[in-house]
Amino acid sequence: GITRHYKFDIKLQNVTRLCQTKSILTVNGKFPGPRIIAREGDRLLIKVANHVQNNITIHWHGVRQLRTGWADGPAYITQCPIQTGQTYLYNFTVTGQRGTLFWHAHISWLRATIHGPIVILPKRHVPYPFPQPFKEVPIIFGEWWKADTETVINQAMQAGSGPNVSDAYTINGLPGPLYNCSAKDTFKLKVKPGKTYLLRLINAALNNELFFSVANHSLTVVESDAVYVKPFTTQIVLITPGQTTNVLLRTKPKAPNATFVIAARPYVSGPAAFDNSTTTGLIEYERVLGPNDNNKNKKLPLLKPRLPRFNDTSFSFKYNQKIRSLANAKFPANVPRAVSKKFFFTMGLGLGSCSTSQTCTNNTRLLGAFNNVSFVQPNTALLQAHFFNKTKGVYTTDFPTNPPFKFNYTGKPPNNSMVTTGTKVVQLAYNTSVELVLQDTSIIAPESHPLHLHGFNFFVVGMGIGNFDPKKDPTKFNLVDPAEKNTVGVPAGGWVAIRFLGDNPGVWFMHCHLEVHTSWGLKMAWVVLDGKKPNQKLLPPPSDLPKC
Ligand code: C2O
Repeated sequence: GITRHYKFDIKLQNVTRLCQTKSILTVNGKFPGPRIIAREGDRLLIKVANHVQNNITIHWHGVRQLRTGWADGPAYITQCPIQTGQTYLYNFTVTGQRGTLFWHAHISWLRATIHGPIVILPKRHVPYPFPQPFKEVPIIFGEWWKADTETVINQAMQAGSGPNVSDAYTINGLPGPLYNCSAKDTFKLKVKPGKTYLLRLINAALNNELFFSVANHSLTVVESDAVYVKPFTTQIVLITPGQTTNVLLRTKPKAPNATFVIAARPYVSGPAAFDNSTTTGLIEYERVLGPNDNNKNKKLPLLKPRLPRFNDTSFSFKYNQKIRSLANAKFPANVPRAVSKKFFFTMGLGLGSCSTSQTCTNNTRLLGAFNNVSFVQPNTALLQAHFFNKTKGVYTTDFPTNPPFKFNYTGKPPNNSMVTTGTKVVQLAYNTSVELVLQDTSIIAPESHPLHLHGFNFFVVGMGIGNFDPKKDPTKFNLVDPAEKNTVGVPAGGWVAIRFLGDNPGVWFMHCHLEVHTSWGLKMAWVVLDGKKPNQKLLPPPSDLPKC
């Protein structure tokens, strides 16, 4: 591979949407941010310079960061933030991955405006395992708030009651004509007939899973979280925050007399107040006008796609089961077969005690928790504490392997629905093979949670609705062609089972990729210890690593 250099200047930029101008945090003045392109095997050197008042970090979401945890980016997990006037050089190599990922700010809610695509091409002369596209088009879904990001965060932290619904969903930063005074802010894709387009879909929205569809065109899913999958054709794609997926769109052989709407809108599994507004864009065919065709400006009819109901959990469950790796029985996926450590985590919201700065009902507030432990952000980075052996007072390694109560998702909430708080991690020996079952809880209400793990791809060996059955369900685990992912939707009122090999020494964040749940503590970390051999150890920290 080669080395590629990028410079990210964090600065303010005035942007107008929904008839209001506000100053937002950007990379290089762009919203959405610049595209990073690499080939598998390339080294990336990205220098981030902070020219704003906020502290900043950038995360390369889904990049495995083998032994380079210092470049991973979550604030107070792998690094202290880059402060005003400081710079930090993110230095890492892209190995064993190809497809679409994305980068985003990983501190507070700043990823609302600080995000952009990462395109990883296969090695030179290695073709895609699907038809070569005529053109590749990144499509980033996002959310837009009229209020500034700080106000939105503060709202979310108040007792955890406000649903923080954004004012618009966006396609490549544009809300589209269904929103007030946004007709001119519409994403348009001009296409030629009879060609294959590769759409690189990225859900960078903060708090919503999204359905996506294109009128009168089906989509062939070929990749998910930068891993090739067995192609399947669908009218509708479901994508959670943190997920990326590549789909092929084959245009009609002859330019039809119509313009086609593309649309995305939320899938809402929980009871939260939902926003059923829809962001739309257009697919316009290039037309060759005949000699008698003087009516250039003729308005073509607009065809609209159909999207599932906002709470269509059964669609969501079926869609997720379709995602399978390219492996087969003869050449099965590289799933750990013998598991050395098993974990069962409940994942959901519970009640915690209130701090004085918050408005609370009955002195309690909503908190997110795995196994009833709500994560408390330390004020130094866990990775430094780990590397320099100064963990005392920073974190403890007693994260519970199982929930503290007998779990039943449909029944009455357990008596101890009060969550505890702490900075707890699970510590693993190098190369531990892990099986983790994640069970959605209904202590507050069942809800789908996009679970994201840093530093690894994991295999989704099973999923189900209802309670996980430790006797029956494992007999049905898929060890042949499970999806290999960095973010999986844990179904509302259901469970997923994942496996991964702890072959990446460092400290790795795991959290719900709904920003509101992350803020409420639905997060934890895994510490993977060094192996014996020199190439099984975390590399030393770079000299410009920010200090807290
Ligand atoms: Cu995309 Cu820890 O996140």
